[in-house]
Amino acid sequence: MSEKVTSRLAGFYKLPISERLNQIGRMFHLAPEEVAHLHGATSLAPEIANQMIENAVGTFSLPLGLGLNLVVNGRDYIVPMAVEEPSVIAAVSFAAKIVREAGGFIAEADDSMMIGQVQVTRYGDPTEASQRILAAKDEILALANSFHPALVNRGGGAKDVEVRVLPAPEGPRGEPLLIVHLLIDTQEAMGANLINTVAEGVAPLIEQLTEGKVYLRILSNLADRRLARASCRIPVPLLADFDLSGAEIAEGIAQASRFARADPYRAATHNKGVMNGIDAVSIATGQDWRAIEAGAHAFACREGQYRPLSNWYLEDGLLLGTIELPLALGTVGGPIKVHSGVQTALRLLRASSVRELSMIFAAVGLAQNFAALRALGSVGIQQGHMALHARCVAVTAGARGASVEKIANLMVKAGHVKVDKAREFLALLSKEEASATGTG
Ligand code: MEV
Repeated sequence: MSEKVTSRLAGFYKLPISERLNQIGRMFHLAPEEVAHLHGATSLAPEIANQMIENAVGTFSLPLGLGLNLVVNGRDYIVPMAVEEPSVIAAVSFAAKIVREAGGFIAEADDSMMIGQVQVTRYGDPTEASQRILAAKDEILALANSFHPALVNRGGGAKDVEVRVLPAPEGPRGEPLLIVHLLIDTQEAMGANLINTVAEGVAPLIEQLTEGKVYLRILSNLADRRLARASCRIPVPLLADFDLSGAEIAEGIAQASRFARADPYRAATHNKGVMNGIDAVSIATGQDWRAIEAGAHAFACREGQYRPLSNWYLEDGLLLGTIELPLALGTVGGPIKVHSGVQTALRLLRASSVRELSMIFAAVGLAQNFAALRALGSVGIQQGHMALHARCVAVTAGARGASVEKIANLMVKAGHVKVDKAREFLALLSKEEASATGTG
């Protein structure tokens, strides 16, 4: 029997992995091999890995988990996340649950407009060279679009040409930089390859127009024409926790936001928390997460000071959270076709377009940030982190099965989360079990 897709799966975390997979398999009508891809063993065959990169010797695994409770624009999303850090998935699911009760996230995203850069040198007079390029805009666009006719047929392709003249980094004696921007709508693709082809393809024409010499022809990862935004409004009473009132928690979050707005040292950590979520879903869905990271941090610096990607304010009894960042994502290309695990992850996410995917990613980033600030602005993060970290320490010490949780709890209670302590508890537990079963 099939089930309705909902991201609210109460008690999911308590199930063994096999039952979690059964539940997800039923809900999404997954074929047995798709369930196996989620489980990981078959998601990327070494022969495929060998086609993807050079000198391949195998594949590399990370835990894959599901972020729950997310509602964006009224739709439920289960978010596949590949991440090694404990607490990321628990935190995003917890935050999404609170926001869900407040009506969910509202999100929007721009079209897939990317920038290809062409660096022109030895062009003579910058004004004259710029004018020649702009006067030939139609010719440049026509040439650019000749390289990807199928993209143009789908409504994408090169849409505009801009020229930027930048001061020479060596000072006034150096040649100002003449940079041509090709604005290219890459539709469902992240677009790196196609942009680079176009930038290389139009370079000879630009050299001819300017009588200059072109050097670099490459996309920009500062994809600031391809932004995604998400927001949420949480009634303050919903925030009450840790024996603190909603107002106290909201104040802590708003103070954390002020701190990040004022101080780049804090903003870097704030944004790291945002990217904890965005990177994890990027990796699970086969995105170029280095490009996403580069774009996010460059965008965070756009005003000349590194600033937070998200902000939180109190407004009329509501805690208002907003995020805006570039998200150069793809639902085609990259490893998507070849990596079975990525295909299944994208199936779970159910995004019908790359814009929808960007909206989900932005909401995940905001949820992740909310969870961090809520803890940081009140009881601190160590309390929650330690409980999860303790499980890893217990496993490192050799605990398996039910004893992982037992040993983790004992360490947290003792206030001593270290491998040597875990070994001590493990030895104690084994002794107790042996005497209880009469084998000791
Ligand atoms: C840890 O991975 C992320 C946090 O440091 C983020 C933050 O400080 O906002 C908790």
